[in-house]
Amino acid sequence: MWKALWLAALAALCAAQLPDLKIERTAPEQPLPFSHKQHVSTNGMKCQQCHPVPDPGDFATLPKTALCMGCHSSVKTDSPHIKKLAGLHAENKRVPWAGVYRVPDWVSFSHRKHVTSGASCEDCHGPVAERAVLRREKDLSMAACMDCHRAKRASNDCLLCHDQR
Ligand code: HEC
Ligand code: HEC
Ligand code: HEC
Ligand code: HEC
Ligand code: HEC
Repeated sequence: MWKALWLAALAALCAAQLPDLKIERTAPEQPLPFSHKQHVSTNGMKCQQCHPVPDPGDFATLPKTALCMGCHSSVKTDSPHIKKLAGLHAENKRVPWAGVYRVPDWVSFSHRKHVTSGASCEDCHGPVAERAVLRREKDLSMAACMDCHRAKRASNDCLLCHDQR
């Protein structure tokens, strides 16, 4: 009797701790072992140096190899990963990074509007500066977007996010 109750309580606790399905427990496989912890926390680089949010401000964008080669034409040149990076740069190719956070293209989303309304990168992407590998650790499903809109008193009108449909 007690054992059954205890097991039921344990099962309920485990269910409560299961992450939302929109959160990924494993990181996508990347073409190079790029570490935010190394570049941001150790080297002191800022998010905007690599993700500048150019006009019109929808995307934070990913850096071109030329930016990387600013250091890696002399830093760690003996590494096979840096050799691969230098090879892509010489061929004028981008690094084929796997996406971590994506919304369908029929959803309106602007990085600039959110950052200027006071949201930080960490609010939506977690403690990136401490991560050697990125995975989708924050929920950015429709329900999560709407939770923050409700909390910040922003509109939750369907057409705010779905005007293109
Ligand atoms: C030296 C350049 C560099 C800096 C500085 C940098 N990043 Fe990145 N970032 C990258 C690269 C390269 C990738 C793609 C590889 C990966 O996902 O780890 C990336 C990926 C990301 C992604 C996932 C993108 C996707 O496709 O979904 C997020 C989110 C992100 N960075 C946020 C940040 C934040 C927040 C900061 C500051 C704390 C930051 N980055 C600083 C280079 C940088
Ligand atoms: C400000 C200089 C700087 C810039 C810009 C920079 N890196 Fe680095 N990177 C470093 C340093 C320093 C290390 C650590 C080297 C070591 O372990 O001795 C490093 C390490 C790495 C490593 C690990 C190499 C290995 O085999 O251990 C990879 C991969 C890497 N960087 C990729 C990138 C990519 C991709 C970009 C552009 C998005 C980039 N870096 C931009 C300075 C930089
Ligand atoms: C309000 C939530 C939110 C905030 C704040 C936010 N992001 Fe994002 N980020 C997203 C969403 C949603 C996506 C997927 C966008 C898409 O697919 O168009 C994304 C995608 C990205 C990507 C992949 C490339 C791209 O532009 O789609 C990078 C890099 C990134 N974010 C970096 C950052 C950085 C750096 C900051 C801080 C300056 C930041 N984000 C702030 C929600 C946010
Ligand atoms: C951290 C809180 C937060 C999260 C998470 C968030 N939003 Fe917002 N969003 C806001 C706030 C606050 C505003 C109002 C900004 C203003 O009007 O200045 C806003 C405004 C908007 C707007 C109207 C701005 C414009 O572009 O005209 C759209 C569209 C939008 N959000 C879409 C989304 C989507 C899609 C997601 C999920 C992928 C999302 N938001 C997640 C806080 C958030
Ligand atoms: C704050 C932004 C936001 C608002 C407001 C919003 N949505 Fe969404 N919606 C999203 C995002 C982001 C997705 C894609 C991610 C997902 O499926 O969770 C989505 C996906 C959907 C989908 C596809 C679901 C699926 O499973 O593929 C439908 C249908 C939808 N929304 C309808 C609505 C309706 C109806 C309203 C008004 C009651 C609404 N949305 C309001 C952001 C929003």
